[in-house]
Amino acid sequence: MQKLAIQGGARLNGEVRISGAKNAALPIMCASLLSADDLYLSNLPDMHDVATMEKLLQQMGVRISTVARGATFNAGQVDKLEAPYDMVKTMRAAILVLGPLLARFGEARVSLPGGCAIGSRPVDLHIKGLQAMGAEIHIEHGYIHATAKRLKGARISFDLVSVTGTENLMMAAALADGVTTLENAAREPEVVDLANCLIAMGAKISGVGSDTITIQGVSSLHGAQYRVMPDRIESGTFLVAAAATGGKITLSEARADILENVLDKLREAGASIVVSDSHITLEMLRRPKAVNVRTAPYPAFPTDMQAQFMALNTIAEGSSVVVETIFENRFMHVQELRRLGAQIEVEGNTAIIKGCAQLEGATIMATDLRASACLVIAGLVAQGETIVDRIYHLDRGYEHIEAKLSALGAQIRRLK
Ligand code: EPZ
Repeated sequence: MQKLAIQGGARLNGEVRISGAKNAALPIMCASLLSADDLYLSNLPDMHDVATMEKLLQQMGVRISTVARGATFNAGQVDKLEAPYDMVKTMRAAILVLGPLLARFGEARVSLPGGCAIGSRPVDLHIKGLQAMGAEIHIEHGYIHATAKRLKGARISFDLVSVTGTENLMMAAALADGVTTLENAAREPEVVDLANCLIAMGAKISGVGSDTITIQGVSSLHGAQYRVMPDRIESGTFLVAAAATGGKITLSEARADILENVLDKLREAGASIVVSDSHITLEMLRRPKAVNVRTAPYPAFPTDMQAQFMALNTIAEGSSVVVETIFENRFMHVQELRRLGAQIEVEGNTAIIKGCAQLEGATIMATDLRASACLVIAGLVAQGETIVDRIYHLDRGYEHIEAKLSALGAQIRRLK
């Protein structure tokens, strides 16, 4: 089990390049299944979940040739319409092959994703939407068996805003017979990025970025070249780390227009922020002020930034309230932060944090992707050494994080 050893106290300074967005790359890679032509993707991030998705697609017969920070995907010879349990259990985003396989091949066998640390994370909305489009779906032995001669356009209204639910059904609808309307659809920038890639492949989609998306099915899609958007959660994570350590950093290849709510919260905490169309500079000249946070679907405050802001609040001036409304168990980092001396009380989906002047380094354990980022931030500000264990969680969703942090002056190294 690999660990990170962090000596707290260094202020982060310098410039860091933001990688392609994990949560845009994963659905866009699955979109390659919708055509027999080459889909060339650039700005793909180098991280474990992307490698897992490549393996999953390759075992289906997708031919992948990689170049630096990019790859060409060709689904012309797909011969296995299955996503096996051993791959789905480590990455629930594997569910995103379901819609494309059904739409192009009329059949799919996808393992039900297990729950994960942050919640049960069902896929009932994905299944209900595909059934509304005429798919026959049976669940047996932990697998979703789906068949459909040809999916039909339908009006689908989501009970809950679901990011991958919206993505799966948008991909399925792209090749369906007729028009599909997705109501109460997710508005996340990653959903928009997928839609833009599908449009480049010949899909007819309107309403992208709003809560009502309309897809006019076409008979086939062609290849395309597409650049994956920058990762807004990686951007937010580095900005919070700079704010917590009282430093000054510039993000390059970053987009501020998809981070408005996070930037507003950082300004509220006392940071000064300057943005251009590709850079974000943050400077924190004082101890952060505590800020209240309530997660909700985009464009509200993102749940994937909740843990990082909790780390900031543990050393901020004053008390704060953090409310997690998306996942039922996304406070796994609280116990670990308490081991560093943080003062946090939890009542259901609400955490109350009393800022303290100083955290003390300790050995702590990552439990999920964004919780591990939170613990790294806490280690950067804690006095003395902090050891973060089980950092395979971190490697799933951040590209070379300790190299990027070291380049900004952090005292951080990986222990084999
Ligand atoms: C996506 O997960 C992201 N993952 C998550 O990022 C992110 O936290 C989440 O959206 C919310 O923004 C990817 O894009 C690969 P949901 P997703 O469907 O699509 C419930 C990270 O750290 N729900 O929007 O799985 C669900 O339980 C990861 O990068 C149903 O009840 O999330 C949750 O409470 C973590 N039935 C809520 O909806 C369904 O069929 C939102 O889930 C689907 C979802």
